[in-house]
Amino acid sequence: MVNRTQERKGDHVRICLEENIQAKHITTGFEDVLFVHRCLPEIDRKRIDLSTKLFSHKFSAPLIVGAMTGGTPEATKINRTIAEAVQDLGIGMGVGSQRAAIEDARLECGFVETRRKAPTAFLIANIGAPQLVQGWRLDQAQIAVNMIDADALAIHLNPLQEAIQPEGETNYAGALGKIKEIAANLSVPVFAKETGAGISGEDATKLEEAGVKAIDVSGAGGTSWAAVEYYRAKTATEEKGERLGETFWDWGIPTAASIFEVSRSVNVPVIASGGIRTGVDIAKALALGASLVSVSAPILRPATRSVEQVKKTLELLIEELRNTMFLTGVDTVKKLGRASVVVTGKTTQWLLVRGYQPEALARQGDKPRGRTA
Ligand SMILES: Cc1cc2nc3c(=O)[nH]c(=O)nc-3n(C[C@H](O)[C@H](O)[C@H](O)COP(=O)(O)O)c2cc1C
Repeated sequence: MVNRTQERKGDHVRICLEENIQAKHITTGFEDVLFVHRCLPEIDRKRIDLSTKLFSHKFSAPLIVGAMTGGTPEATKINRTIAEAVQDLGIGMGVGSQRAAIEDARLECGFVETRRKAPTAFLIANIGAPQLVQGWRLDQAQIAVNMIDADALAIHLNPLQEAIQPEGETNYAGALGKIKEIAANLSVPVFAKETGAGISGEDATKLEEAGVKAIDVSGAGGTSWAAVEYYRAKTATEEKGERLGETFWDWGIPTAASIFEVSRSVNVPVIASGGIRTGVDIAKALALGASLVSVSAPILRPATRSVEQVKKTLELLIEELRNTMFLTGVDTVKKLGRASVVVTGKTTQWLLVRGYQPEALARQGDKPRGRTA
C-alpha cells in the first residue's frame, strides 16, 4: 500500500527524471567566481590530497550525494545504488525525507538497506521543518536517525516548495524553536538544509544560535522545486499550482552568494549544494568557504542504472576537482579554502549590496609585489 507522502515522493523522482527541472534564468553565480590560474603550480598533480574530515569522519574527497529519496521500492533501489557507490569511494550521502517511513513503520526497511550497503560511509538522515511545526518532536527525529544509524540529521527547509504545492504545509511559525529543541537533545549533530532556494547570512546566524552543527545552503541555480511542482500541477491540471510554479521557477539566493554569506556569518561547517555540476564548481564552492560539497540531481539517473554509473559520475567530478586544484597550485582541500579567487559580475553586485567589503571579494594567495590590495 502506498501512502500519500510516498506517492508524492514517487511523482518527484519521476518528474526529475523526465522533465527539465533546472533553474532557467537564475544561475548559481559560479560563472562569476574565477581562480587565478597558476602557470607554475609547483606541485605534483599525482600527489594532490583530496581527503577531508567532518566531525572526525574522514572523506576521501569533500563530496557527498545530497538527499533525494527513500521509501518506495524504486527509491530503495536508488538509495541502495548510491550507498554502494559512496561506500566504495569513501564519501557520504544523505537519504531523502524519511517522513513516509516515520508515518508508516512498514516502509523503514527501504531506508535500513542504505546503511547495510554503506556500513562505514557518512550517512545523513532527513526530516522536514514543517513536520516539526505540526508536532513532531525529538522522538520522530531519533527514529529517523536510528533507522539508518545516521551520523547526522538534516532538517530540510523548503518553504518555496510548500508554497507552491496544493497540499503544501506552509506553517513555518516556530520552526526555529523546534530545531533548537532537537539540536539540543538528539544523539547526533543536527544540520539545517535548504532545498534549492539558498540560505542568507542572517538566517544562518539564527540557525547556528539554535544549535545546528552544519548548514547546507542548497542555493538557487540548480534543481528548482518550483519547477518540479509546476510539472506536478500541470499533470493534475491545477491551474494555480502551474502558475505559481512558473512564477517562482527562478526564486532564491544563488548558490555562490549563499556560500559566501553563510560561511562569513557562522563558525559551523558549510555544505555547498544547489547546481554543483562540475569539479570546477566543487573547487569554487570550497574556495568560497564551504567544507563539503553535495550533488543531487546529476546522480539520480545514474542511480536508476547501476553502481558503476554512479561511481563513474562521481569519479569524473573528483578528477575535475583534482585538475582545478592542480591549475590553482594547491595540494590539499584546506589550502583550496585559501586559494586566490576573484569574484566578479552579478555575484559581486549582490555581495556589495549586502554589505560585504570589496577587499573580501578578491583574495590573493601569494600577493604579487607592487600590489596593495
Ligand atoms: C529527486 C529529488 C528529491 C529530493 N528530495 C529531497 C528530500 O527528500 N529532502 C531534502 O532535504 N532534499 C531533497 N532534495 C533536494 C536536494 O537534496 C538538493 O538540495 C537540491 O536538489 C539541490 O541540489 P542539485 O541542484 O544538485 O539537485 C531532492 C532533490 C531531488 C533532485
